[in-house]
Amino acid sequence: MKKTIKISTKEQNYSIEIENNSIIKKLEKITSNQKNTIFLVDKKVLKIFKKFRSYKKFNYISLNCSEQIKSFKVYENITQKILKMGIDRNSQIIAIGGGTLGDLSGFIASTIMRGIDLILIPTTLLSQVDSSIGGKNGINTHYGKNLVGTFYQPKLVIIDPSVLKSLPLREIRSGYSEIIKHSIINDGKFFNWLEKNSKLIFDLKPKILIEAIYKSINIKKKFILNDEKEKLQNKYSRSILNFGHTFGHALETYYNYNKKLTHGEAISIGMSIAAKISTKLNYLSFKNYEKIINHFNKNKLPTFDKNMYNKSIFLIIKKDKKNFNGLINFVLINKIGNAFLINRLNLEDIKKIIK
Ligand SMILES: NC(=O)c1ccc[n+]([C@@H]2O[C@H](COP(=O)([O-])OP(=O)(O)OC[C@H]3O[C@@H](n4cnc5c(N)ncnc54)[C@H](O)[C@@H]3O)[C@@H](O)[C@H]2O)c1
Ligand SMILES: [Zn+2]
Repeated sequence: MKKTIKISTKEQNYSIEIENNSIIKKLEKITSNQKNTIFLVDKKVLKIFKKFRSYKKFNYISLNCSEQIKSFKVYENITQKILKMGIDRNSQIIAIGGGTLGDLSGFIASTIMRGIDLILIPTTLLSQVDSSIGGKNGINTHYGKNLVGTFYQPKLVIIDPSVLKSLPLREIRSGYSEIIKHSIINDGKFFNWLEKNSKLIFDLKPKILIEAIYKSINIKKKFILNDEKEKLQNKYSRSILNFGHTFGHALETYYNYNKKLTHGEAISIGMSIAAKISTKLNYLSFKNYEKIINHFNKNKLPTFDKNMYNKSIFLIIKKDKKNFNGLINFVLINKIGNAFLINRLNLEDIKKIIK
């Protein structure tokens, strides 16, 4: 089964191609364009990359990937290495790895020589359903996640679910968390479908997996096309995709981006908090709230962290680039399948509600 999603933005028209066992034949095709190509490859998938027989003909840099690579230091180091290899405006970067490598590579590709072509080959479930789509990239700072970055669309995204076979179960769960997020914000039927099919997704059954990836990307696509640069402040805003991310990102920053929580775990906790606030403010029925929490529990995604209501978490949220004067924009839900943006919610009020 092969599925293609086309995305047209002002800057770029590109395809997202989803097909099982396709990575090697696609690599052969995309490197046949005679462009000077630099591969950035996650060490965990180096074995897969080396199945591509002509890999030795190309420059490649392999990285030990985690949240730590989204830093000024690694950005500088890799950029210098690429420049040393010798590139020009027509060169292309092909990134093969998870969301952290994709976010770093996007930032490098968009800034080096003021922008060279980027092809993304995401190899984690999270990057296949979320981070490789939409053109956001960036690195972290001590002040918060993704605070430095650009919008930069890739030329092509190649998704091969068969590469997920080597991915640890915890990382599959992490990606699954973003899939559930997409269903909760936009498609109640998809949520019900996930309730029935989550086990098959975790078993990596290709047909179901491809269906879940396809549905997930199409939901994200809708928000990107409505609001590519996140300028809107209503229910069509791209920031709806940040459901669960206010507290999720704050937790990741609190833990200094270490391995205590994966991104997906941080946002399943964040989504639980956002759902709770939605219920406390009488937008979401308690029954629907329970349905969400039960689904997280059933799939072993956390809904609680002992530090989630810690003072420092609220301080981090207060300092976030999108917030002003303790008033924050927050994504809430009024049913499973519909999210909306509430502007200027008082952080002190939120504190009281969730206590
Ligand atoms: N740009 C966006 O729109 C966007 C959206 C969502 C998330 N993100 C970002 O994505 C990042 C998280 O991405 P992630 O979850 O992919 O993390 P990651 O890149 O750290 O990958 C998780 C782990 O899996 C390993 N790995 C990768 N592919 C593998 C494979 N096929 N087999 C075995 N191991 C493999 C990696 O080495 C790493 O240890 C976060 O930084 C988050 O902020 C960005
Ligand atoms: Zn996310």
